[in-house]
Amino acid sequence: MRKKIVAGNWKMNKTLQEGLALAKGLDEVLAKEKVNCEVIIGTPFIHLASVCAAIDTQKIGVAAENCADHASGAYTGEVSAAMVKSTGAEYVILGHSERRAYYGETPEMLKTKVRLALDNGLTPIFCIGEVLDERKAGKHFDVVKAQVEQSLFDLSAEDFSKIILAYEPVWAIGTGETATPEQAEEIHAYIRGVIAAKYGKQVADDCSILYGGSCKPSNAKELFANPDVDGGLIGGASLKVEDFMGIIRAW
Ligand code: 13P
Repeated sequence: MRKKIVAGNWKMNKTLQEGLALAKGLDEVLAKEKVNCEVIIGTPFIHLASVCAAIDTQKIGVAAENCADHASGAYTGEVSAAMVKSTGAEYVILGHSERRAYYGETPEMLKTKVRLALDNGLTPIFCIGEVLDERKAGKHFDVVKAQVEQSLFDLSAEDFSKIILAYEPVWAIGTGETATPEQAEEIHAYIRGVIAAKYGKQVADDCSILYGGSCKPSNAKELFANPDVDGGLIGGASLKVEDFMGIIRAW
């Protein structure tokens, strides 16, 4: 059975103190309330160790937003998968469109990052998604297929089974424009078909595919109602406890 997941991606927001307050606030609510999905928060690197120490990580999984494409060594400013793991984090968001677009992350680099994450016991939350021009040209299916194939399809079925996917249409990220439930379901089902063709139906059925892009309390329920939408990767609405809980409660 695949997991239902609501994951936050704080991006480059919150000082350490603000981030700790947010994580503790969420932890307090989840200590009292039973929810119907797994909850993950993705925080900047510098928050990871403090956040992991301050919350119940059995209830809230913690993710880094990136990791290096090298194991260790002279790569000033980088943070390795092993370092992320040593903070207590269990997940790492990889291939976010902002990293692909602004920091030149290539499919090849992402393949290496996924390998290093898995080798260090981290679960990758691997992001894919097309830009607006690609959608307008009807190329969105080919784009996401290529993104999955290029960075993930060298993995064994066993390793692929450890990956969480996040479909995030770039035109919906931070824009207030959300994919319609029909658009989300159509492409999630397509992605699951691509996985089934490579790894078989069981692996595809067990893979959690999250939707990301202007997901908020008001639209989460209709998005999550689709059979192939297994949750959300949430940017802006993960920065306030009430907004994030509103999405979690959509399950
Ligand atoms: P928003 O929810 O702010 O659109 O961001 C989505 C996202 O990029 C999550 O990774």
